[in-house]
Amino acid sequence: DLRSTTACLLDGARSRAAAGHGPSLGLVPTMGGLHEGHASLARTARGDNDVVVASIFVNPLQFGDPADLERYPRTLDDDVRLLGSCGVDVVFAPSVGDMYPGGEPLVRVGAGRMGEILEGASRPGHFDGMLTVVSKLLNLAMPGAAAEYRAYFGQKDAQQLALIRRMVLDLNVPVRIEGVPIVRDDDGLALSSRNRFLGAEDHRAALVLSRVLRSVRERVEHGRPLDLDAARAEIAAEERVDLDYLEAVDPSSFTPLTGDALPVVGPALVVIAARVGAVRLIDNTVIQAG
Ligand code: PAJ
Repeated sequence: DLRSTTACLLDGARSRAAAGHGPSLGLVPTMGGLHEGHASLARTARGDNDVVVASIFVNPLQFGDPADLERYPRTLDDDVRLLGSCGVDVVFAPSVGDMYPGGEPLVRVGAGRMGEILEGASRPGHFDGMLTVVSKLLNLAMPGAAAEYRAYFGQKDAQQLALIRRMVLDLNVPVRIEGVPIVRDDDGLALSSRNRFLGAEDHRAALVLSRVLRSVRERVEHGRPLDLDAARAEIAAEERVDLDYLEAVDPSSFTPLTGDALPVVGPALVVIAARVGAVRLIDNTVIQAG
């Protein structure tokens, strides 16, 4: 099982560890369909830790739509190869029965109010299901008090990352959460397991998301006020793209900043979600007055 495997590896690390720093374990949770964004998490974890565990589990609890769960990419052999090339020591790829031996869990982690806005408003129950499985994965890989424990998540899923940080704070989970920058295609599109479902025309249309985020960021860096309505209008002009939301939010609470022509002082996040053809995409950027 995962605990005894990592305990064994950590024993090796413990004997090698230089005096003063204990052995460390890094966990990289994923749902597979891996790409360079996931690889960046794995490589960062490899650089920071003695032992690196990656998990691959398509978590039914966080999918509202059974069709979405059904067509989620499953590419285990390629995924294991990619993780191996990033220096991951252990790949944990449990079945649904392994993770939920009692069937659907009765007891779950609740994301609360922060789980009901933005992504949560479009995907009811998603964040409760996500936090529940992340909590289970953090428990399954937990190395014990003698070792440092870190878990790695991408800034691409900014609301997810903020909720995980909040869960760790609110429930005293003994792990350090590390946020890793968004990895993009050369053309600016944020990498996602779902990008493979974009046709060429939809891929081109989807670039409006990163383009708009970039122009919003640059405007603010040049000391000009936010103009989200102008940004929304630019997206509306792309007929293949159906905007769900575009908001500026507080980076830790995800409370939308309200009012037009906002002067931005501290760092804020601009978050965006849109449907392009049949594919729902999200992206975000940090904005800060220069
Ligand atoms: P998944 O979508 O597979 O993503 C796994 C991790 O990779 C997440 O932390 C996500 O933010 C990160 N990631 C995805 N695309 C990225 C990109 N372009 N740049 C940087 N990081 C990127 O997110 C999940 O799985 C699940 O909700 C999970 C946390 C595993 C719980 O089931």
